[in-house]
Amino acid sequence: MRDLRISVTDHCNFRCVYCMPKAVFGTRYHFVGHEGLLTFEEIERLARQAALLGVTKIRLTGGEPLLRPHLEDLVAKLSHIQAIEDLALTTNASTLTPQKAAALRAAGLQRINISLDALDEDIFQKMNDVGFPVARVLQAIDDAAAAGLRVKINMVVRRNLNDSQIVPMAEHFRGTGHTLRFIEYMDVGNLNGWQRDDVVTAQEILSRIGDHWPLEPVNSQRYGEVATRYRYVDGQGEIGVISSISQPFCGSCTRARLSPEGQLYTCLFGTQGHDLRALLRSGATDEEIYAALAGIWRARDDRYSELRASTAPKGQKVEMFHIGG
Ligand code: GTP
Ligand code: 5AD
Ligand code: SF4
Repeated sequence: MRDLRISVTDHCNFRCVYCMPKAVFGTRYHFVGHEGLLTFEEIERLARQAALLGVTKIRLTGGEPLLRPHLEDLVAKLSHIQAIEDLALTTNASTLTPQKAAALRAAGLQRINISLDALDEDIFQKMNDVGFPVARVLQAIDDAAAAGLRVKINMVVRRNLNDSQIVPMAEHFRGTGHTLRFIEYMDVGNLNGWQRDDVVTAQEILSRIGDHWPLEPVNSQRYGEVATRYRYVDGQGEIGVISSISQPFCGSCTRARLSPEGQLYTCLFGTQGHDLRALLRSGATDEEIYAALAGIWRARDDRYSELRASTAPKGQKVEMFHIGG
């Protein structure tokens, strides 16, 4: 266990068609209520024990994590854990103001990954499905960088929806210093109606971009990194591809995932979490929490993406907006 991904809320103000399709998640969908959420103190306690087990990287996710009020207070708590070398956030950036970016940075946030699936206004709105404009995300990207956060951009590619945007997105972010990552559309959760034909493989993405600007591979900096990295031969920066469908990477996965109500999942495609909230609220000692985390991790044998073609999951998979990717 090296990375801990912490989902701080399952609420989201977007309805991305590949994640929370509007038809399923209308206004009456039952999200985790305030009482059910782990408090920042409870999250910090778990993170400290996870750090003792070997975690050096923490990423905050959602739902949309910036919808959790005062998120910078949690960032401050986590940034004081000495073993944590990398503290990052994944967000749709819709509520990121210059003030919020500065507060997060001041609290110790180092990096931010911002989701943006298209530059074309119609296509982006079709994807977020709540009429959110591209320009505001582009502004938030600039604001995050100005606050001193290192920025990556995440683009989920779905065939016949936004694959026309691969080359324009590459062109836009070349030379900006922000790494653009193309993500193969995945069969996370049970509700997005995923079909193999909708996936545009990393190989196709790279070849479409390479036709315009030649690319060469870059060695991974970190064991278990999800993105495979490439650089533009002309020196205009880097891109990444996340090829969970065409080239699964379960063998090097070092990620544990904590849901907003304190269930620990050992796989993004997990069907069953481990209830750490009950343990926390039963008055467990730090040693007991450590032992529980160690036991859960030792028993893990997940390799869903490698088995996808041959084995059906043994139940309902956890939803993406719940576990945060
Ligand atoms: P960096 O630390 O900047 O490399 O971030 P990251 O790519 O680990 O995190 P981010 O939240 O930006 O996620 C990008 C994409 O990678 C999302 O679609 C995630 O769901 C996906 N992803 C992250 N971890 C895993 C994993 O263990 N398995 C699979 N299949 N996808 C993953
Ligand atoms: N497949 C691939 N990526 C997805 N994301 C959300 N749903 C999916 C999916 N079905 C992405 C978001 C965000 C990141 C956390 O995961 O766009 O960038
Ligand atoms: Fe919200 Fe992120 Fe899911 Fe889009 S992908 S609906 S922004 S949680």
